[in-house]
Amino acid sequence: MIEINGLSFLYNDSKEPALNNINLSIGESEFVGVAGPTGAGKSTLTLCLNGVIPHFLQGDFYGEVKVDGKDTVENSCAKLAYSVGSVFQDPEAQIVSTSVEDEIAFGLENLNIPRVEIAARIKESLQMTGISELRHYSTSQLSGGQKQRVAIASAIALRPKILVLDEPTSELDPKGSLDIFNTLKKLNEEYNITIVVVEQKIQLLSEYCSRLVIMEKGNVLIDGATRSVLANQDILQKIGVSSPPVTRLAQMLKKAGLYQGEFPINVEEAYLMVSKVLSEKRR
Ligand SMILES: Nc1ncnc2c1ncn2[C@@H]1O[C@H](COP(=O)(O)OP(=O)(O)O)[C@@H](O)[C@H]1O
Ligand SMILES: [Mg+2]
Repeated sequence: MIEINGLSFLYNDSKEPALNNINLSIGESEFVGVAGPTGAGKSTLTLCLNGVIPHFLQGDFYGEVKVDGKDTVENSCAKLAYSVGSVFQDPEAQIVSTSVEDEIAFGLENLNIPRVEIAARIKESLQMTGISELRHYSTSQLSGGQKQRVAIASAIALRPKILVLDEPTSELDPKGSLDIFNTLKKLNEEYNITIVVVEQKIQLLSEYCSRLVIMEKGNVLIDGATRSVLANQDILQKIGVSSPPVTRLAQMLKKAGLYQGEFPINVEEAYLMVSKVLSEKRR
C-alpha cells in the first residue's frame, strides 16, 4: 500500500532535512502508529503520503513515495485522494462547509462524482464513522470529537484504501480519543483500510496499533511490531517518548525482580501480569 524508498525532504527555508533517508513499506490493512518528539518529521511524513509534499510545499525532495502503486510526484493530490484520505491535526482548518452533509459532499463534488452517488457515499461514510445522526447538523455546533469524525467521514467518502491522520486526538479528552481510535479500528478491521496515525498518546497506540514507527530528527529510529517496539524502553525514554503506564508498571516489577515475562501492551495483559505476580508472592 505504501512504499517509501530513500525519502529525504528539506524545507526551502531550513538547513536541516525534515526527513532523512526514510525507507518504509506498509502493507494492506496494517494499523500503523507513528510517534516521536516534536520536530521529528512526523507531520512532514504524512504530507509526503498525500502529495501535499511536493505539490504544495516547496523544498528539496529526494527518493520515491508510492501509495497504492501511485508515485506521489507523478500524480496530483486530487488523483492521490482516491487512494489516500487525509485528516490533518486541526479539524477547524479542514472543515469548510456549514453543514455536515455538505462537508462530506465537498470533496466528492470536486472530483465530479455524480449526484446520486454522492448521496449514497454521504450515508455510507457517516455510517462507517458512527455519526449518522449528525448528517443535518451545522458544523459550527459540533464538539471537537464530532468535528474529527466528520473530517474522517469526509476523507473516507472517496473510498480510499489508506487513511493518514496527524494527531487526530490532540484536542480531545480521553473518551473522545477512545471514540476516534474505535472508529479507526472499525475502518481497519471491517473495511480493510490501511491506517497510518501520528499520535502522542502512546497508550492508545499500544492498545490499537499492530505496528509502531518511532521517529527522531527526520529518521525512523525503531520500526516493528508494537510489543517489540515498546520493549525498547531505554531508547524511548531517551528521546522523550513516554511509555504506556502498563509497560512502565511491568518495568518496575522487573526491576524489583518480581516479573520476568513479556511486556504487556494493554490493560488486560497488565491485569494478568499483576495477578501472576500476586499469586507467586502469596506462595
Ligand atoms: N513549513 C515548514 N517550513 C520549514 N520548516 C518546517 C516546516 N514544517 C516543518 N518544518 C520543520 O521540519 C522539521 C520536522 O517538522 P514536523 O514534520 O512538523 O515534525 P513533527 O510533526 O514530528 O513535530 C522541524 O524541524 C520543523 O521545524
Ligand atoms: Mg506534527
